[in-house]
Amino acid sequence: MLEVLRDELGLTGAKRGCEDGTCDTCTVIVNGAMARACRGPHDRADGKEVLTIEGMGSADKLHPLQEAFIEVDAVQCGFCTPGMIMASKALLDRRDSPDREQIARALGSNLCRCTGYAGVLDAVQLVSAPKKNGEASGPTAQWGAQQRADAQDKALGISQYAADLTMPNMLHGAFLRSPHAHADIVSIDVSEAEALPGVLAVVTSKGVPGLNRFGRVVKDQPVLADDRVRQIGDAVAAVAAESPEIAAEAVSLIRVDYRTRPEVLDPADALKEDAPILHGETNLLAEKEIKWGDVEEGLAQADFVFEETYTTPWCEHGYLEPEAAPAFLDDDGVVTIRTATQHSFLHRAAVAETMDLPVERVRIIPTVIGGAFGGKTDVSCQPVAALLAMKTGRPVKIVYGREESLTSTTKRHPIEIRCRTGVTKDGKLTALHAEMLADTGAYASAGPGLYIRAGVSI
Ligand code: FES
Repeated sequence: MLEVLRDELGLTGAKRGCEDGTCDTCTVIVNGAMARACRGPHDRADGKEVLTIEGMGSADKLHPLQEAFIEVDAVQCGFCTPGMIMASKALLDRRDSPDREQIARALGSNLCRCTGYAGVLDAVQLVSAPKKNGEASGPTAQWGAQQRADAQDKALGISQYAADLTMPNMLHGAFLRSPHAHADIVSIDVSEAEALPGVLAVVTSKGVPGLNRFGRVVKDQPVLADDRVRQIGDAVAAVAAESPEIAAEAVSLIRVDYRTRPEVLDPADALKEDAPILHGETNLLAEKEIKWGDVEEGLAQADFVFEETYTTPWCEHGYLEPEAAPAFLDDDGVVTIRTATQHSFLHRAAVAETMDLPVERVRIIPTVIGGAFGGKTDVSCQPVAALLAMKTGRPVKIVYGREESLTSTTKRHPIEIRCRTGVTKDGKLTALHAEMLADTGAYASAGPGLYIRAGVSI
């Protein structure tokens, strides 16, 4: 049903966040009942009334729930907002004045990463409270803060995220990704994929016109893997086709012969003498000593010295909007990419260098962004979207699935911190000695800078 709504009817207010009924950003109402559009076959809605966020209100006449979400600032990135509003409507249609706990239970499967759920509960209460008391009351009095400029469009479901954008004659891009953490690429055969009707282009590293490497600090990540893959999810080849289904089928027809290598999964193992090397001559990306004062003297002044090891886990940013990028050549031949980005000039430079173009021939136009939390500073699909658009001469849109987003993108770096801390009997710190070993994964990303920041923040 989600495909019919979004791709055939252009009703993009229902979002594609997870594709497996987990996030509820695709919530609609079918014959009065809340439904997940990504889970419902469209023919199950035959003859029934389907209400989407587009049917709730307009700029001239907002639905009271839309007004309330804006009023109490329950809209931040807005990616979850249409689903939240639809689930709230379904609740208020069947229950006259739910209390806070009942609202929380009813919206329990609608995920939000930015706003925090308190604002959402306030918004629903704001609408249901007058029903209960006969007059406007409750949370309204607490609010009245400056409203976000884009809150109304997000509450109406008309804000356009990168995956919502379409263009005439647009093709759809898809990646073939590595199933191996570490392997040589012996050969790639794209002949079957190229022969599939509806396929306009199949590209591998040989088709990357410029430097086949990008990176924020160290240029170590290939646009498309050349001789080797270094993580599960590395991009190996990409396809542009007339539909997402044809693109996916073409990807399944690409044959890659891998020769697996020993994996490197842990930073301590990576530093051992016989460790397999991922890049160049060493697995050590960066090393830094930060020093203030005399630690040994401080420890000697302490009444107690504690030695502990702390670890932080790797962490997926968990934005609800997966990565996406439509790319096209504008009337002047400038490669133009619409994408959710936290670092548009970095992305522009990466596309220009990898596509062998002067930066003036590349334009990144940021879209509204469905959550990022640092995770959309790194480059993802933008260079390949540009490459496919250049090769075909047609607009090409790449949209990551949730699994692809989880598998292939950068994570927060885990750190092991071994501390010696000196303290006096009256609780005064006299010294802190910390050794930190951090894991950037297969590629540098922002690793070196982040570790300096971790060192000075401890
Ligand atoms: Fe809910 Fe961003 S506002 S996910």
